[in-house]
Amino acid sequence: MKQFTVHAQSGPYAVCCQRGALARLGALLSTLEEKSSVFLLSSPRVFRYWGRAVIAGLREVKPAQRILFDDREEAKNLRAVEQLCRALARAGADRRSLIVALGGGVVGDVAGFVAASYARGVRIVHLPTTLVAQLDSAIGGKTGVNLPEGKNLVGAFYPPRLVVADPQVLRTLPTRQFCSGLYEVIKYAVIGDEMLFHFLERALEDLRRQKPAALDWVLERCIRAKVEIVSRDERESGLRQILNFGHTVGHALEAATNYRRFLHGEAVGWGIIASARISVEIGKLPTAHAERIHRLVRRVGKLPAVPAIPTRKLAAHLLTDKKAVGGKIRMVLARQIGQVEILPEVPLEVVIRAVRGLSEKSQ
Ligand code: GLY
Repeated sequence: MKQFTVHAQSGPYAVCCQRGALARLGALLSTLEEKSSVFLLSSPRVFRYWGRAVIAGLREVKPAQRILFDDREEAKNLRAVEQLCRALARAGADRRSLIVALGGGVVGDVAGFVAASYARGVRIVHLPTTLVAQLDSAIGGKTGVNLPEGKNLVGAFYPPRLVVADPQVLRTLPTRQFCSGLYEVIKYAVIGDEMLFHFLERALEDLRRQKPAALDWVLERCIRAKVEIVSRDERESGLRQILNFGHTVGHALEAATNYRRFLHGEAVGWGIIASARISVEIGKLPTAHAERIHRLVRRVGKLPAVPAIPTRKLAAHLLTDKKAVGGKIRMVLARQIGQVEILPEVPLEVVIRAVRGLSEKSQ
């Protein structure tokens, strides 16, 4: 079992990554302190595949009650939080209860925010079942929900007690969902891992087919990077911002299309292409590097087209991003493959032009 430790302000927690880890859940959870009750929060689809195995593992610790909810991005809102908190209250959850979140990024983000809020905080364990969640969103304690005005605008930093990533569960993921996670892998490569970028150029097909040697190597490498980054900058006051490469435009695209058109990773895929273009335009990135980034993103699969978005709407979403300050856009841009920097004041018109370029590429 590969085990990594996140050093959070509230204390360290482990991220375990291994094939078959879900089957050993009982042993992994027995290390946590006494819990009065256990609640499994998941979506109907994920529960259908993996719920029984997880319930069986939890039984070794304490019988769990399940609460299922809609895990589409468009349902990731405050209404979902209220419904889940009320379901917990009706089921008798208290401060010593444990929430176990089984699912992708939406399940983890919503359940995490519920855990942060219910009774002013109950413990949570993440069992991520998508590639995006295993290598990114389940690690680092970001939780929250969307508003029509912007992605993840309401939330809290709330570290889990444990994260268990079992690559085996990815085999029931629809191809589109799996590929969506590959754009986040490209992100890790561009922000700090040139060797990973070379590997992706060489072995993307193996990864797409989930060949265990390729998938496990990539997963562990990305998890290690995420653990190191969030351990050094939990609250995103500096270094952690580099994880937002491709996300400024990505989040604006998601919000401008009402969270219905793109999976999160797909919007990030477009965001990476736009960021590479902007990096070239403001003289940071050699064109040849931008072309390699563009080619790799396009090789992952067909991205949903970027629609024409009215300028005012696009500008509003870009400026509502949590990273925008004082009307300027704070962006992570690339200097070369494997190295990025944070630019605090990228002109809005440059970003809008790059997004327009994406609509043309979609034709
Ligand atoms: N997904 C970006 C972060 O956790 O900071």
